[in-house]
Parts: sequence; structure tokens; C-alpha cells
Amino acid sequence: MSDRPTLTTSAGAPVSDNQNSITAGPRGPVLMQDYQLIEKLAHQNRERIPERAVHAKGWGAYGTMKITGDISKYTRAKALQPGAETPLLLRFSTVAGEMGAADAERDVRGFSLKFYTEEGNWDLVGNNTPVFFVRDPLKFPDFIHTQKRHPRTNLRSATAMWDFWSLSPESLHQVTILMSDRGLPIAPMFMNGYGSHTYSFWNNNGERFWVKFHFKTQQGHKFHSNEEAEQVIAKTRESYQEALFGGIERGEYPRWTVQVQIMPEADAEKTSYNPFDLTKVWPHAEYPPIEIGVLELNRNPDNYFAEIEQAAFSPSNIVPGIGHSPDKMLQARVFSYADAHRYRLGTHYESIPVNAPRRPVHHYHRDGQMNVFGGIKTGNPDAYYEPNSFGGPAEDKSVQEPPLKISGDADRYNHREGNDDFGQPRALFNLFDDGQKKRLFSNIAAAMGGVPDEIIERQCKLFDQVHPEYGAGVRAAIAAGKQERPAAISAAE
Ligand code: NDP
Ligand code: HEM
Repeated sequence: MSDRPTLTTSAGAPVSDNQNSITAGPRGPVLMQDYQLIEKLAHQNRERIPERAVHAKGWGAYGTMKITGDISKYTRAKALQPGAETPLLLRFSTVAGEMGAADAERDVRGFSLKFYTEEGNWDLVGNNTPVFFVRDPLKFPDFIHTQKRHPRTNLRSATAMWDFWSLSPESLHQVTILMSDRGLPIAPMFMNGYGSHTYSFWNNNGERFWVKFHFKTQQGHKFHSNEEAEQVIAKTRESYQEALFGGIERGEYPRWTVQVQIMPEADAEKTSYNPFDLTKVWPHAEYPPIEIGVLELNRNPDNYFAEIEQAAFSPSNIVPGIGHSPDKMLQARVFSYADAHRYRLGTHYESIPVNAPRRPVHHYHRDGQMNVFGGIKTGNPDAYYEPNSFGGPAEDKSVQEPPLKISGDADRYNHREGNDDFGQPRALFNLFDDGQKKRLFSNIAAAMGGVPDEIIERQCKLFDQVHPEYGAGVRAAIAAGKQERPAAISAAE
């Protein structure tokens, strides 16, 4: 007898032989009664779950957020009080590639945070950019289809991307960030994270404030040029996993400075832009970032599948003191993520250890597939409905969010009317030095390979409206690229 534990079936019976199938004679065939063989093959067939419809490729780690500032006058959230230290999971991702995609691809990066607070899980599911490509959720599936594979060729389609963008001027801000240096960070540690949407804070006096969250890298911004990224991908498709996992194993713990921008509730009526429009930032000069703490990653997961692949983030997860906002995109996300998890992971995805809150959970949901928590979570089998006389869990009015003021007729409002899609991309363009502008032009030209001329020209006209130098720069970079490319390749496009 060795001191190793005995191998068992999943029903707990000891296994006598894990090398040889049961066969009729030494040459076979195998017998159907070899249920250990059947169980092993059946389990293997079920090892993969559907990958995320977007943000399929990801890298993650655990850490903490320590609050050093004092924003108690804006929010009652315990995780945001001075001195609070909250454990968290952070998953980074690319948007468009599948699970096997190369890490060093130009794409927006996801920045998904799950804070395990003493008041329940608070998820802030953001990106490494402060804005997004579309501002109406009705356009999200269309946008994502342009980023994924063409149904006929099964290839990514630059034509689809630029066709959609050139017909959607609200995308200009995000497209400019994506095509700038920051569109291709060398590893997750070298980029910022943003909550992106406007959320709300509310305090013990029932006052509401609008808020935006920023996580500023303390490692500095580091990025690849397209050419460098090609070299990296030629050697490894896993450059982010190697850098993040390897760094944390070596004790190099990446950090981000946590900031918020706060807007008094009534200001939302006064700003020249809609502060709930996801294609806009709040200028720092108007709403200065307030430093509130530090976020650090310091522990790798022990099992990638259980802790990163099964992680389920959702903007619907908020805690007392934090609320949503009228942002149409955020409203749609509040529905979409939990729905995706029920499909991808199952009804009781919140019972999976990585998603389970680090505090007792009491609710009246019951039954369903993979109910592994023993029926109901009320603490008493007679208390399976509410209200009841059997001591089942009851509501707590003290955590009631203050009412949200809303007005207006229900209608389909044209979000492209009266919206300045050019001013903020212009402010960004004006921040770029000559080198940054040159790389922006050439990154765009490279991404437009094979796109029909009329689509390119439609997009360049949008760039002209941001800044004449922008449109002219892209046109010149495209012309220079055509000259450099061998005639045979150009002719085939
Ligand atoms: P500020 O000059 O006060 O702030 C500029 C911001 O731009 C900083 O947060 C800086 O981030 C960021 N930035 C600098 N270079 C780049 C780049 N290549 N790609 C993306 N972001 C960059 O100006 P405003 O607040 O008036 O904003 C001007 C423009 O800056 C906006 O239109 C927007 O495009 C961009 N921006 C604004 C943010 C905001 O919340 N106001 C946030 C991020 C970008 P860092 O400090 O990390 O260098
Ligand atoms: C992932 C929907 C906009 C950031 C996902 C997933 C869905 C989805 C269904 C997959 C979830 C899963 O299977 O686990 C939507 C819809 C949007 C939207 C409907 C707009 C209406 C955004 C925006 C951001 C964002 C604006 C950032 C500001 C992310 C991130 C992930 C993700 C980071 C990966 C989460 C993870 O790490 O597991 N989105 N999304 N999405 N989305 Fe969105």
C-alpha cells in the first residue's frame, strides 16, 4: 500500500486499474460494462463549455483594493470607506479573438473587477478605454458581428469593420484610441482600466452623485508597434499570460492608482454633453479625478478553468452606496451579462466558488440544474416563500437606493442628432505629439488593407471633421502603403 490516496470513480468507489480497459481477450474488443472507461470518455467530451461570445481570451489574478482617500460624503459603500481593504479578482481580456487568439493583437482590452465586499459582490466590468464604439445597445450585436468572422469566408473582415465605423460617427473617439499607441499594450500591467460608464454613488442622507472610475497604471504605459507585435506573436501567442502569471509568481505585484470623478446629481442637466453617453469622457478640468486608493494584484489562481474561465462578471452586481445611471448601454448590460452566464455556466453560476460572495447568501430561488447548495438558501425548509412565519430571510429597508429622477416620453430618440462626435476625439488628437500622430495614421492605414475605396473615403471624411490633419495624414499613409506594397499584392485586393 502506498501512502497516496486511492483513485476512485466519481461515485467514490475504488478503481483497481487505470491503465487497461476491460476486453474480451487480450486483443479486445472492449466490453460495455467497463463503465470507468465510459465515464472517462464522457467527461472528456464535456470538458469545454461555450466560450464567452465576446472577450473570450483572458488572463486574471487575485488582489486587493485599499482605500486611502475619504469619499464617505458621497457613498456609504463599505468597500469605499477610508482604510477599507477588499479582496478582488481582476480578469483582463481581448474583445474579438477566440479563446486561442494571440495575446498581442490590436484590440480593446477588458478590465473586469469582482470585489468580494462584506455587503456582497460588486462587479465593475470595464475596459482599458474610457469610452466605447456605440452609444445605443441596439447597435452592440451589429458592432460585435463586424469584429468577429465573416459568415462566408470565416475570416475577420476589415471591410465590415470600417463599413460599420464609417457609418457610425459615434465610434470615432474609441477608434482613435484603438488605433493610437494605447491600442496595443505589451501586457496587462502597462495599461489603465476604466469603469467607462457613469455610475452613481449615494450616501446615508439619500443624496445621489454621478461617478466615473479610473484605474491608472503605476507601471507606466508600454505598448507595441504593429511590427513588434508581429515579432512577439511569431514567437508566442501567450505573451500576456506569461507576463502576468510569471510576474506574480516572481513577486512582482502590479498596481493601479484608483481615482473617481464625481458629478453632483443636478449637474447632469447642465453639461454641454450628455454625461451618460458612453462615447464621451468627463473632461478632467471640469471634474478633476480624486485619488482614493490603490489596487494591487498579488496571487495567481490555482486553476485557470475554475477561477478565470468560470468567472462570471456582471454590471448588475452592485452593493448599497453604488447605483447605475440612465446610460442606455449600462442598462442593457445589466440584463445581458447574467443572461449570458445562465447560458454559459448554468442557472446557479453564482454558487461556483470564484463567483460566490464571501458573505452568507439568503434567497428564495430554488431547484434547477446543478443546484449544489441543498435546495433553498433560507436556513429553514418551511421558509420557502415570502412573507412567511417561519423566520425566513426578510428585506432590509435601510439599503433602499434613493429614487432616480426621470422624465420624458417613451420613444426611439435619434442618438446621432445633435450629438458632437468630433470635439472629444479632437481633444485627444491634439494631445498626441508628432510621433503619436504618425503612428496613428500608419496603424489606421494598415488596418484598412483590402477595404473598398468608397468606405475608406467615407471614413477619412469623418477624420477630416475631427481635424483636417487627421484625414490628410491617414490618406497619405494609405498612399505610401500602396507604393510600398508589391504590385501583385495590391492587384489582388
Ligand atoms: P486631460 O489632458 O486633462 O486628460 C487627458 C487624459 O488623456 C489623461 O487621462 C491621459 O491618461 C489620457 N491620454 C493621454 N494620452 C492618451 C492616449 N494616447 N490615448 C488615450 N488616452 C490618453 O484632458 P481631458 O480630460 O480634457 O480629455 C482630453 C481627451 O483625453 C479626451 O477627449 C479623451 O479622449 C482623453 N481621455 C480623457 C479622459 C478623461 O476621463 N477625461 C480619460 C482618458 C482619456 P494618463 O493620465 O493615463 O496618461
Ligand atoms: C463580456 C455583452 C458592452 C466590457 C461580455 C459578454 C457579454 C457582453 C454577453 C460575455 C459575458 C460572459 O459570457 O461571461 C455586452 C453588451 C454590451 C457590452 C450587450 C452593450 C450593450 C460593454 C462595454 C464594456 C464591456 C461598454 C466596457 C466598458 C466587457 C468585458 C467583458 C465583457 C470586460 C469580459 C468579462 C469577463 O472578463 O469575463 N459583454 N457588452 N462590454 N464585456 Fe461586454
